[in-house]
Amino acid sequence: MNHGIIGNGKGERKMIQEITAGELNTEAYIRDKVEEIRNTVGGATAINALSGGVDSSTVTLLGHRALGGRLKTVFIENGLMREGEPERVVSLFQAFGIPVDVVDARAEFFAALQGITDPEEKREAITQTFYRHVFGRIVKESGARHLLQGTILTDVDETVAGIKRQHNVFEQLGIDPREAFGYGIIEPLIQLRKDGVRKLGKALGLPAELFQRIPFPGPALAARVIGEVTAERIETVRKATGVVERLLRDTGAFQYMAILHEDRVTGMREGRRDFGHQIEVRCWDSVDARTATPTRLPFVTLEKLAAEILRDVPGIVSVTYHIAPKPPSTMEVV
Ligand code: XMP
Repeated sequence: MNHGIIGNGKGERKMIQEITAGELNTEAYIRDKVEEIRNTVGGATAINALSGGVDSSTVTLLGHRALGGRLKTVFIENGLMREGEPERVVSLFQAFGIPVDVVDARAEFFAALQGITDPEEKREAITQTFYRHVFGRIVKESGARHLLQGTILTDVDETVAGIKRQHNVFEQLGIDPREAFGYGIIEPLIQLRKDGVRKLGKALGLPAELFQRIPFPGPALAARVIGEVTAERIETVRKATGVVERLLRDTGAFQYMAILHEDRVTGMREGRRDFGHQIEVRCWDSVDARTATPTRLPFVTLEKLAAEILRDVPGIVSVTYHIAPKPPSTMEVV
């Protein structure tokens, strides 16, 4: 099945041909992509941003296999990541002999998100801050002409269908990255979906804790805050995320998350009225994220989630569980 057009970083455009996880021959795929990356980059250098998710981790290993030291890998600390994420990612890749530069851009991201409540405007603010400002600056300083990126087919589909504008999809929106940001984009995972990327990551040597990791969206915890994204609101959802990920780790679910609502509700604490905040828990069964159903969690698990979120996350007076399937719901809330 064809999924629209894609450039190869050299101004040529071709159709995207899906490769299902079942069809994927990892050895041949790695060999082809390594060659393609080498041909595209030539004698120049490339750069990639590693977030620690399955897609960017896989693309980092693939890129280093192709380019070695000519690929510079950075972790952009946008302030929107999960607890302890930068340290965890850096030490994991150190074990592969891949150095990762951490760039602190927290202030820039929060400034760009200030006052924005519309979901698509949030995505746009994050996109612009990431690609144009922070990454644009890093690329310029590094002298790299190519950006290696872990876009997958589901990102393209959802953008083309107008469901959600994925932060890392450009060509399909008619944006020429070289014109807009000054660098070409190489997307070696674009024919795959999540299950294919996991298979590829495993073949490249990613540890199970990484290739089996649940998906995490590009806009990070900002995709899980309804309404304005502030450092304080991110901290609330970050704490709740810690509880949810710890308690649901062994469910085998495709993805699970905590969401901070915008509406406040009346609660009571120590015998007094408390107009507090609400956390919604979502836990999904899915194969490829195109459709999904809420996991039938045992009620004792739900009770445990509520008890620990109420105990560990200041200001929360309500915890709910999402029970609508995708579609018409989507997995993330923003
Ligand atoms: P949705 O919410 O579209 O998510 O059902 C489908 C899968 O894609 C992951 N994902 C993203 N979702 N913006 C999103 O809204 C992004 O930039 C993004 N990147 C990845 C999402 O977590 C779910 O697994």
